[in-house]
Amino acid sequence: MKDMKSDDMPAWKYLLSDIDFDEREKRAVSDVLDSKWLSMGKKTREFEERFSLYAGTPFALATTNCTTALHLALISLEIGKGDEVIVPSMTFVASSNAILYTGARPVFADILSLKHPLIDPGDVEKKITKRTKAIMVMHYAGYPCDMEKIQLLAKKNGLYIIEDAAHAVGSYYGDNMCGTIGDVGCFSFFANKNLPAGEGGMLVTRHQKVYERVSKLRSHGMTSLTWDRVKGHSYSYDVVDLGYNYRTTEITAAIGIAQLNKLDKNNKKRNELFGEYVKLLSKNKNIRIPFSSLEGRYARHLFPVILDQRIDRQSFMSKLKEQGVQTSIHYPPVHLFSYYKKILAGSQARGLNNSEEYGRRVVTLPMHPLLKKKDIRKICDCIEESF
Ligand SMILES: Cc1ncc(COP(=O)(O)O)c(C=O)c1O
Repeated sequence: MKDMKSDDMPAWKYLLSDIDFDEREKRAVSDVLDSKWLSMGKKTREFEERFSLYAGTPFALATTNCTTALHLALISLEIGKGDEVIVPSMTFVASSNAILYTGARPVFADILSLKHPLIDPGDVEKKITKRTKAIMVMHYAGYPCDMEKIQLLAKKNGLYIIEDAAHAVGSYYGDNMCGTIGDVGCFSFFANKNLPAGEGGMLVTRHQKVYERVSKLRSHGMTSLTWDRVKGHSYSYDVVDLGYNYRTTEITAAIGIAQLNKLDKNNKKRNELFGEYVKLLSKNKNIRIPFSSLEGRYARHLFPVILDQRIDRQSFMSKLKEQGVQTSIHYPPVHLFSYYKKILAGSQARGLNNSEEYGRRVVTLPMHPLLKKKDIRKICDCIEESF
């Protein structure tokens, strides 16, 4: 691993995440610069087509990022003021922020357990009210939620399903890729994701109506794009909806295509690294590894571990830092953030005990496709040293 030394960055020997870039991404970006077409155009179309084929879904639309994709997903399903959307508290704050942008209220559901930190369908059921419009699941760390139970609940109560699949590009639930099972799925191409492009997002859906509405909403509600007009497909435009500028760039799309070509190889690599971690850590009494008993095709975006209650997390993370191992916390539960406490005044955030305990005890360890098995062995030695 390269040492990353600069004035403002510690000398990490083992980064939490890193990117598999080479000449292919450089050439892809340079081709876009040569073309002088920088905003949404032919590369974006190609990325969307390639992504929809990869995911096995009829419609895919590129956006600025996953947060804006989630926002558009909610609006396109007519969710707004007075509505409630059930979402796990064990997620990145973007999931529930997107709900708040629409004027709807996020209602937080707990996770199943520390070993299986995914939304608990039993708790979702308890939280359904007359105002509930949708369930937003989040496939944490790249592991699929129990979509069979979620689909049953949605059907019984007439609810939409939105999948926050920011962690789950290339993860499967049975024969279907995560993100393509519910009504709308949203992906992130942020710099630390499995398909990194700097920023960027993708919304997928099987509903033509959602596709048509989102195509306009992401560009000011206009009926045609600058690209269409340059190509002579259209001379003018109308504005038929209150839209946004959630367009992406050709540079993002070009990097996205190059990364999509590497995705299966890199997810396979993550899988091997996961196996090595499990082999080396499963006998360690101080650590529990979520999802270690699951077999399947998963993106393995993060490698979270749960520390024994007696272990001081801060000092464990500091000792790893001293040895050059970068760690993080995914995630502090959303309902405990000051802003959320203030706006929800506690009423929507009861009985989230598993999420709170998980948030107190989780540590995420390095996981990315540039790591080698020998790096995992070194990291595990550092972990032993830290206890
Ligand atoms: C679970 C989850 N949802 C949504 C997002 C938002 O993605 P973006 O940064 O592309 O807006 C992230 C990003 O980290 C995430 O982890």
